[in-house]
Amino acid sequence: MIKVRIPATTANMGPGFDSFGMALKLYNEIEVEEKKGKTIILNNGIKSEDNYKDNLIYNSLINTLDRFNYKYDGFIINVSKCDIPICRGLGSSAACIVGGVAAASSLMGNRLSLDEIIEIATEVEGHPDNVVPAAVGGMVVSIKDGEKVNYSKIRVPNELKFAAMIPDFQVSTALSRQILPQAYVKEDCIFNISRSAMLISALYNGEFDKLRACFNDKIHEPYRKKLIKNAEEILEKARDTGAVGEFVSGSGSTLMAVVDKDIEKFEKEVKDFLGKLEDNWRLILLEPDVEGIRVASC
Ligand code: HSE
Repeated sequence: MIKVRIPATTANMGPGFDSFGMALKLYNEIEVEEKKGKTIILNNGIKSEDNYKDNLIYNSLINTLDRFNYKYDGFIINVSKCDIPICRGLGSSAACIVGGVAAASSLMGNRLSLDEIIEIATEVEGHPDNVVPAAVGGMVVSIKDGEKVNYSKIRVPNELKFAAMIPDFQVSTALSRQILPQAYVKEDCIFNISRSAMLISALYNGEFDKLRACFNDKIHEPYRKKLIKNAEEILEKARDTGAVGEFVSGSGSTLMAVVDKDIEKFEKEVKDFLGKLEDNWRLILLEPDVEGIRVASC
């Protein structure tokens, strides 16, 4: 049996649309076993009623096996842990895709390098910003250079904690990409390029006072916040309670606040505030995961 653990990820991180992402200590685990006959999908050992042909882990698995003409009959795929909330901007799709591709590699005798796993998973997902940190851990800037994916890790100071504020409604990534403009004015491009560059530099130098300006964005957040009820009030509350920066996690609906001190006070005050809103907002304090995907064969 192949066991794969994949971390959650927060993508974009303000100005780094489709490029910045960071792995978080929140995990899904999947178990994959070959089986003669029909494929079965289990959620924590309980048979899923959904058609396995619609399952993203299954599709990523066979997409990879087919590329190498690996012959298979069927599988048992058990999602033994599912802590990453679905369609909330915390990389649940990338976790399924990276998990499926990595499991396929393992079934083929570890045939793929980590970079090859990343390339196949990025092709399936369409953009690398969740896939790469899910695979390699840490905060990463990723670019697509033709078909090739290049990436570089960004230093994140240990003092920084990430408060994920998660509502009980989902935002579809497809819709939240569809509502974005086809073209941008020069000023907005300059705004994002300058902040992305300074974000990396300020993190590297530990210049927390500069982070607030750097976590801003004009490419996607102004459009997407409209899909997230109470987004502005929550982000304002996080800022007023001492966060050094805030952003929409991936395409939402999760909002992320970056906190460097007085973390217990921040957690209590913001939880109290969220508790008064509709939509069952909850707050989870997370740290970066530095390990990325973990695959074991047993
Ligand atoms: N960069 C992606 C987006 C992340 O913002 O649409 C979500 O998949």
